[in-house]
Amino acid sequence: MKKICVMALMLLGIVCFNTSVNARARNIGVIGTGYVGLTVGACLAEFGHHVTCADIDATKIDMLNNGKIPIYEPGLEEMVTHWSTHSTLKFSSDPGSVIESADVVFIAVGTPMDEDGQADLRAIRAVAKTIGTHLNGYKLICTKSTVPIGTGSEIMSIIKKFAPAESEFDVVSNPEFLKEGTAISDFMQPDRVVIGCHTDRARKIIDEVYWPLHEHGVPFVYTDIITAETIKYACNAFLAVKISFINEMANLCDATLADVLGVVKGMGYDSRIGHKFLRPGPGYGGSCFPKDVQAILYKSRVANVDLKVISSAVKANELQKELVFKKFSKLLGDNLADKKIAVLGLAFKPNTDDIRYSPAITFITKALEAGAHIRAYDPIAIDSMRKEFPCIDYHSSLYDAVQGVDGIAILTEWDEFCTMDLAKVKDLVKTPILLDGRNILKVNELQELGFVYDNIGHAKV
Ligand code: UGA
Repeated sequence: MKKICVMALMLLGIVCFNTSVNARARNIGVIGTGYVGLTVGACLAEFGHHVTCADIDATKIDMLNNGKIPIYEPGLEEMVTHWSTHSTLKFSSDPGSVIESADVVFIAVGTPMDEDGQADLRAIRAVAKTIGTHLNGYKLICTKSTVPIGTGSEIMSIIKKFAPAESEFDVVSNPEFLKEGTAISDFMQPDRVVIGCHTDRARKIIDEVYWPLHEHGVPFVYTDIITAETIKYACNAFLAVKISFINEMANLCDATLADVLGVVKGMGYDSRIGHKFLRPGPGYGGSCFPKDVQAILYKSRVANVDLKVISSAVKANELQKELVFKKFSKLLGDNLADKKIAVLGLAFKPNTDDIRYSPAITFITKALEAGAHIRAYDPIAIDSMRKEFPCIDYHSSLYDAVQGVDGIAILTEWDEFCTMDLAKVKDLVKTPILLDGRNILKVNELQELGFVYDNIGHAKV
């Protein structure tokens, strides 16, 4: 393997697979080049397969063919460059021909939320139709996109409808659990792989696709398609509930003067609970939780089942996003008119440029409504946020953003915010008022420097 790739993967703590000679290599087409599609494509090339990623967006494909990736994901550009140079990872704006040359086709297109909370399946249906019309022999069709429970059978029917008579194919549901920001390591070292399939032929092929993960002892969960689809929604809904739960605990701690970080520590050592996903904050965002919890709620309404816990978690999350703004506003005497506010952190979480459903959007909207002037900074996500708020001021460093401000709100836990020079910040601001929306700063340091501050349920002194 080339040095760059080994280095990228070593940095990420990932096992490298020796892919030079691999009898199990398959021709794989990946349709969709978003976070999931690109990561899946690059990682399957790493497994030794011959992969072509297709997208109908020719601009994206041009970028990829020129060695640039359209998203920010640590390590991904290096991997894409490496396997493109070896010609085992290719890009095409013609999904039809990619499908024709593939043995296995991964569907990794977006399923965004529509107005009534349903997943918008137009891209999925279009891909299924393209697969049907280009089916030129047996293929395994593997759904990576998060699709509503029951979509697997719809995909099968669409392919059947457009495919030549007697065509052979299988559909597998193989939900993806990677997180933005750690996508490669999540794919390469997953907690488990879920496979929903109905034939031995399909199972054998998908096992071959994932051969290195079998060799490294990753657990595989085999089930039927509808159960696999449900597992994905159950996981995201459970994690959303976990976050809303700890946010509510944090709010209780604020009222009782307990320290939520101590509560989390004490809870997390209980092996039935665990430490992960118990970080209180300004509410969850991103392209997945908000969309997926709405989609499962929509499905439950159709099925006439009342999912009270999940719907409460959604309400709690909306309130949490508002509460963060209220806390900040309170620090400034509930008068933001003509105040200069530094917003540090625009992405919905660190290590991504994704701002979809970011708590920063709610915060900025409310601050602008209250008459504030926003000075925003994020290490990566400024260009994304500029599309949402073209008229606020963006700055190239956190120290620029805080100059002369009446207050600072930290909304994303980027490393550089955790280690910021608070004494320097104090000298730059007009008034040392700070809301730590991610509990990343040391309260004793803030206090010693004379900041007026608040956080999310963490001790105040
Ligand atoms: C999430 C899941 O974690 C992945 O397993 C899943 O594959 C993905 O959705 C998906 O369905 O595609 P992602 O949205 O990339 O991944 O990001 P997370 O790290 O899960 O964070 C989601 C949101 O929850 C962020 O806004 C984050 O700040 C928030 N969060 C997370 C908290 O507020 N507290 C926590 O303890 C953890």
